[in-house]
Amino acid sequence: MRCLLLLGLATWHPHAASHPSHHDVQQPILSPQEEDSSSSYSVQTPPLDTDWTYEVGTDPWPQYPRPKLARSQWQSLNGIWTYANASSHDALDDPPFNRTLPQEVLVPFCLESGLSGIQGENTIYSWYKTTFTVPSTWDSDHRVIPNFGAVDYEATVFVNGYKATFHRGGFFSFAVDVTSYLKGGVEELVVFAFDPTDSDSYVVPVGKQTLSPEHIFYRPCSGIWQRVWLESAPKNHIANLNIDGDAHGVVNLTVVAVNGHASVVNVTIPTHVATAGSPITFKVPSVKPWSPDSPTLYDVTIKMGLDTVVSYIGFRAVTKAEVNGVQRIKLNENVIFPFGTLDQGYWPDALFTPPTYEAMTFDINTQAPWLQYAPQTRQNELGILIMQDMPSLPSSLKPNKAQYAEFERQLKLLVKQLRSYTSIFAWVIYNEGWGQPKSHKPDFDLTDTVRHLDPTRLVDSVSGWFDRGAGDFSDDHHYTRPRCGTPEHYIDATGFDPSRIGFEGEFGGTGHNVSAEHLWKVKKAIDGISETYEMWDTLETWNARGHFLLSELLFQVQVYSCAGAVWTETTDVEGELNGMMTYDRRILRPDVGKWKADVQALYDASDCRSSQRS
Ligand SMILES: *[C@@H]1O[C@H](CO)[C@@H](O)[C@H](O)[C@H]1NC(C)=O
Ligand SMILES: *[C@@H]1O[C@H](CO)[C@@H](O)[C@H](O)[C@H]1NC(C)=O
Ligand SMILES: *[C@@H]1O[C@H](CO)[C@@H](O)[C@H](O)[C@H]1NC(C)=O
Ligand SMILES: *[C@@H]1O[C@H](CO)[C@@H](O)[C@H](O)[C@H]1NC(C)=O
Ligand SMILES: *[C@@H]1O[C@H](CO)[C@@H](O)[C@H](O)[C@H]1NC(C)=O
Repeated sequence: MRCLLLLGLATWHPHAASHPSHHDVQQPILSPQEEDSSSSYSVQTPPLDTDWTYEVGTDPWPQYPRPKLARSQWQSLNGIWTYANASSHDALDDPPFNRTLPQEVLVPFCLESGLSGIQGENTIYSWYKTTFTVPSTWDSDHRVIPNFGAVDYEATVFVNGYKATFHRGGFFSFAVDVTSYLKGGVEELVVFAFDPTDSDSYVVPVGKQTLSPEHIFYRPCSGIWQRVWLESAPKNHIANLNIDGDAHGVVNLTVVAVNGHASVVNVTIPTHVATAGSPITFKVPSVKPWSPDSPTLYDVTIKMGLDTVVSYIGFRAVTKAEVNGVQRIKLNENVIFPFGTLDQGYWPDALFTPPTYEAMTFDINTQAPWLQYAPQTRQNELGILIMQDMPSLPSSLKPNKAQYAEFERQLKLLVKQLRSYTSIFAWVIYNEGWGQPKSHKPDFDLTDTVRHLDPTRLVDSVSGWFDRGAGDFSDDHHYTRPRCGTPEHYIDATGFDPSRIGFEGEFGGTGHNVSAEHLWKVKKAIDGISETYEMWDTLETWNARGHFLLSELLFQVQVYSCAGAVWTETTDVEGELNGMMTYDRRILRPDVGKWKADVQALYDASDCRSSQRS
């Protein structure tokens, strides 16, 4: 079988310092008398562009933003807003209501990105402002709810001068019912964003963002970086869904209502209707299981009181089992060998946010020839498997008790918000010891927390470095030589543990320099290229090296306990030149035929050992 996947990464990251900045000199917020126009939006030339940079226009990401919980009445609030830099939290004492902010900004792109039109540095305190008008066609007795896909790191939201909500955590969505603040006609929406990244004494989940980028730490992303939209829903509406389906058609559904109590819900999965309180469990007969080969999804309609939402479900089960003496990952009771790339999800023109939908799927589709998953089927669901990382705390700072408690709160949010996505097969808690306490207990406590919230997935508690035995994986990181499930001791760990899944969570990383037009034109990044783990002058030698490393991994699959691996990485990022593609996605490094054969050999070796009679 094809096992396959692309993998998600550990951490979401970015950063900033020495690139030229093109925004106007900072202006104070205009007073009401001065109220005038803001300086108009244009893409700022990023240190490197892509084929999509100048195709975004001013209506970015117009697609429906939340197919997992879709409502029919909605309106995108992406596009041109106005922006002002602020200098401290004191700015909250005088919000810029009824005032025009000095610069235009394109939402939803990080303030440090060229596409935002700001490309600022030290955008720690920021004001954003827009207006909206509730469509007259919307149900007048429904509530009006702005949704934010993500704002890094804290957001305070005001509507018509009223404080509507506060949200903390840069990677999570939130929504707020603002109906009681509406006046009719043009409504004013103001957001104050605070993003310390790794400044001062802040130790918050950042991934690989830093205010001083170098080597594997990147330009930060501040402010609104995911889609913003308005929707209409009844007062008691569905706020979240936990929807799991196993390979035999058993559905577990928990409907989370905005008031905390889901009443009776009716669930329709094409031919099947169930009615019950929540949570509910029922079985849909003769389902076709979801897998990378055949990523079948079913539409689901859920009614609760006056609210109706549309979602979808994939039926699949992920388990760990010993097969002929090796701990393996099973999908729908078949052994799989997950192999994919470390996907940091960075874009030179937009940082955290893919510039367009086409750009996002380009990264995945470009890997199709050698990772072998089924191409796009329905609902844009690609047959990929993802290991989802919790964004790390800063690598060089240790959290105190309160900071660690906040990390745990956000880890729970991550699992709660993403657990209904079929593609995710494992959660990663710590990357390479960053923010990981010195004692053993927290590793086991957080692993239990994740398992309790989501019993349907595996947990890779410690991806690299300080493995004290928690979770389902014995995960080594080693550049450039893999040690996947081998007896050789992993760094600072207890050694490979054969009772858990032998996994190479990061390897490869071998680099290749390119001509200046494909480089991130920031001096410090270019000066740091030599820090990439190893560099090859030509694509021939880079490919030969890749073949050698995949052959080493193959031996570990054939002889030792290697049950999956992640190659670093999908694309170059800033001065790290070890991608399958350059950061601008204009050079593809692999000799696709050779890589395809090498990856197929891994799948075959895993299948072969798993099917032998012992
Ligand atoms: C915002 O203000 C801070 C401090 O007042 C300054 O360091 C920073 O460069 C400014 N950023 C922008 C984008 O104007
Ligand atoms: C904004 O201006 C309008 C019209 O003058 C006024 O009704 C409203 O109270 C003002 N809002 C705030 C928050 O000052
Ligand atoms: C449904 O929930 C039950 C009880 O928590 C659990 O045993 C079962 O594995 C779950 N099934 C699915 C498909 O998630
Ligand atoms: C659920 O279905 C039952 C039986 O068909 C029906 O009486 C009830 O009104 C439905 N409830 C909702 C919320 O649609
Ligand atoms: C990589 O190539 C760039 C120009 O394309 C050059 O400036 C830089 O010195 C090279 N770095 C290394 C480590 O080869």
